[in-house]
Amino acid sequence: MKVTLQPSGHTFEVPEGQNIVQAGLAAGFMLPYSCRAGVCRTCRGTVLEGKVDYGMVHETYLPESDKAKGLALLCQAKPLTDVVIEVREVQGVRPRTIPCRVEKLDKPAPDVAVIGLRLPMNENFRFLAGQYIDFLLKDGKRRSYSLATRPDPAGVTALEIHVRHTPGGLFTDHVFDKLKVRDLLRFEGPLGSFYLREDSSKPIVMLASGTGFAPIRAMCEYAAEKKISRPITLYWGGRLKRDLYQFEAAQGWPHVKFVPVLSDEKWQGRTGFVHRAVMEDFPDLSGHQVYACGAPIVVESARRDFSAQCRLPADEFYADSFLTEADKAATA
Ligand SMILES: Cc1cc2nc3c(=O)[nH]c(=O)nc-3n(C[C@H](O)[C@H](O)[C@H](O)COP(=O)(O)OP(=O)(O)OC[C@H]3O[C@@H](n4cnc5c(N)ncnc54)[C@H](O)[C@@H]3O)c2cc1C
Ligand code: FES
Repeated sequence: MKVTLQPSGHTFEVPEGQNIVQAGLAAGFMLPYSCRAGVCRTCRGTVLEGKVDYGMVHETYLPESDKAKGLALLCQAKPLTDVVIEVREVQGVRPRTIPCRVEKLDKPAPDVAVIGLRLPMNENFRFLAGQYIDFLLKDGKRRSYSLATRPDPAGVTALEIHVRHTPGGLFTDHVFDKLKVRDLLRFEGPLGSFYLREDSSKPIVMLASGTGFAPIRAMCEYAAEKKISRPITLYWGGRLKRDLYQFEAAQGWPHVKFVPVLSDEKWQGRTGFVHRAVMEDFPDLSGHQVYACGAPIVVESARRDFSAQCRLPADEFYADSFLTEADKAATA
């Protein structure tokens, strides 16, 4: 079946069994996506002509009323006929599979590992500030981690990721129990459409919860390097002070106003839910861009409340929600 994207006019074939995002990426077209599990809605597009099988999508994330408007989640949808789809294409390079070696392994908090990865010298890995990679594990399993590294147009051969321990989790149990310096891993990347948009002059609000700080760090450092002069306010939330495991780095950026927020510890700084702190300071977000990352509950609350209560346009909310297998299973 053939897919035509609007407004670009790009076309590609969808092989049997593939969804529209998969086939589009394989054909070299960058469609927006994050979770690839039918939950985050980043990949929403409008079917203008033809019919699709909507795939495994829970009613919560694609209600009948949305289907009636022609909306589909393109990471799940498969064409049943030739289709024309309206979707905002994004930037990015085609993902590749790359081996890497663990070069550094620090634990700045009891449940956070900061891992330095060394790529082969000839890789020159290119990506956009904020994107993620998938580690390729046994039996076809994969786990996603955002890059905390600032990209370089010439490519990089060292990457940093921040991993929170999920007790009972396949990959993070391995990281906290067994992983050591010099171990080999394999990843696919770069992935996702969570990256700093440079074609806008709007002030930026960044919202990180826990290890959601990783891609935000990449974006802040990239913005400094590119001398992006748009005001940036960064809200980083955790339960306890130790959850803000790179506090000094965040505090040290001269171009970023840093607002740390703790929900479960009394201190001299802000307390409560981190997305609520944003709403107190920015009751009107109609002229802003928001980049949110981390715990799904925080990202979803921000998405909902910023647009319903602070007039943030829906398409100015960019996010990666750190969904785990449990979150995905709960919505299947
Ligand atoms: C786009 C994206 C970017 C991400 N970036 C980061 C990042 O930068 N840093 C970070 O810390 N995390 C990130 N995550 C989350 C990360 O990918 C993992 O989901 C997380 O680290 C847990 O992995 P795990 O293998 O240890 O746990 P999993 O094996 O996924 O298990 C998680 C929990 O679910 C339970 N579980 C497992 N399978 C099932 C099932 N079938 N049904 C019900 N329960 C189940 C387990 O017991 C465990 O409690 C990101 C996620 C996404 C989608
Ligand atoms: S719902 Fe399709 S990428 Fe998340």
